[in-house]
Amino acid sequence: MVEQLAVDNGKSAVSRSSTSGKVLMAQTIGSIDEKEGSQRLLTGFKDLDDVLGGGVLPGSVVLMAGQPGIGKSTLLLQVSAHIARSVAVLYASGEESAGQVKLRAKRLGADKHEQLSFVSSTSADDIAATIRSGGYKLVIIDSIQTLSLDEIASAPGTVSQITNSSNVIIRAAKQSGAAVILVGHVTKEGSIAGPKVLEHLVDVVLQFEGDRYGGFKIVRAAKNRFGSTNEAAIFEMNQDGLRLVENPSAALLAERQNSDGSVVLATIEGTRPLLVEIQALVNPTSFGYPKRTASGFDLNRLNLLVAVLEKRTKLNLSDKDIYINVVGGLKLNDQAADLAVCMAIASAAASRRIDDGVVVFGEVGLGGEIRSAYSADRRVAEAKKLGFKLAIAPAGASKNSFIKEVGDLRTALIDYLQK
Ligand code: TYD
Ligand code: MG
Repeated sequence: MVEQLAVDNGKSAVSRSSTSGKVLMAQTIGSIDEKEGSQRLLTGFKDLDDVLGGGVLPGSVVLMAGQPGIGKSTLLLQVSAHIARSVAVLYASGEESAGQVKLRAKRLGADKHEQLSFVSSTSADDIAATIRSGGYKLVIIDSIQTLSLDEIASAPGTVSQITNSSNVIIRAAKQSGAAVILVGHVTKEGSIAGPKVLEHLVDVVLQFEGDRYGGFKIVRAAKNRFGSTNEAAIFEMNQDGLRLVENPSAALLAERQNSDGSVVLATIEGTRPLLVEIQALVNPTSFGYPKRTASGFDLNRLNLLVAVLEKRTKLNLSDKDIYINVVGGLKLNDQAADLAVCMAIASAAASRRIDDGVVVFGEVGLGGEIRSAYSADRRVAEAKKLGFKLAIAPAGASKNSFIKEVGDLRTALIDYLQK
């Protein structure tokens, strides 16, 4: 409940403001000076720089969100250590004590930098004052949910604390020209905890996704005021922190055993082509309602594809449990994964394998038609690079002998599933 004060003179805000206010002096876009000193800070990870649109822009505020334990603090400590080679960096943590951070920094080899400072604080006022002091070019705040302002009575992590604390911090960042990276927790459903307005306030929203235990971890931008949101950085956790994965396709396919239900998809992650194995398991339903489960693939999309398979081909899946797994902990959001998922299901249901040297991509329409996929050339190039022999792909993708064009789902299954 919010108390609303009564307006005393009987005039509404609208009628008052229709007579007040001053004329604003606007500038033509061409005459505006570009901000100088916009030398970006490089993070030490080339792909992460690309995700940020070329490094961290001074005066900008970045929000990095991810599941607990995915490696947010680790990555940001590594980034701080790299940037601290050239400028002063402050790592402010409300979650960990100085001792804990020291231990981690030691493991990462980040404890030898003169210009990397640490402070343990949960006061948004104090941190904002420290930012305004101008002593640091980059400030990491781990995490926004632990911060609070003294004037607000509610507990840290509540909507009003998060909104007001981040406003105070963002204002301090813009005043001092320091770049700020905020760590944000996510809810059980995967969205950023706290008010949606937090995402509007900051300049860049990075999402750290992937499997907490092993597998690849991917950083992508969900919003970026200074660059594209098409890039992605793929990391792997090691003894000594996070490392960029050089050749993700080869790593993803290293343990593949070609059996029925296994299909290699040529997908695009950000702007980079990636080969990933899709596995399907199809079992008779033992009782009641058939079960459909997907890991790394949208469940609604899976249900839709199962319906298309039933209607447009002769497969009967109504009494079958269907499980889909995307290997390597990847989460696909590529429409062109449809055909690979369908072929994996059909392959598992009919116990027929797909040939070893084949990759698949293409979107499946409700009529069972195969629709074109973007960046077909780059998908094909990646498949060639890894020694594949042919690609099953939509017609007209590209004039290339490597591509075997298919027009509809039924032909794809009849032609390419072996006995
Ligand atoms: P952390 O960065 O604390 O995650 P977050 O801040 O997102 O909650 O740590 C992630 C996990 O990574 C942690 O459970 C332990 C593991 N880890 C390594 O495997 N190697 C390392 O060098 C470090 C620092 C952490
Ligand atoms: Mg942490």
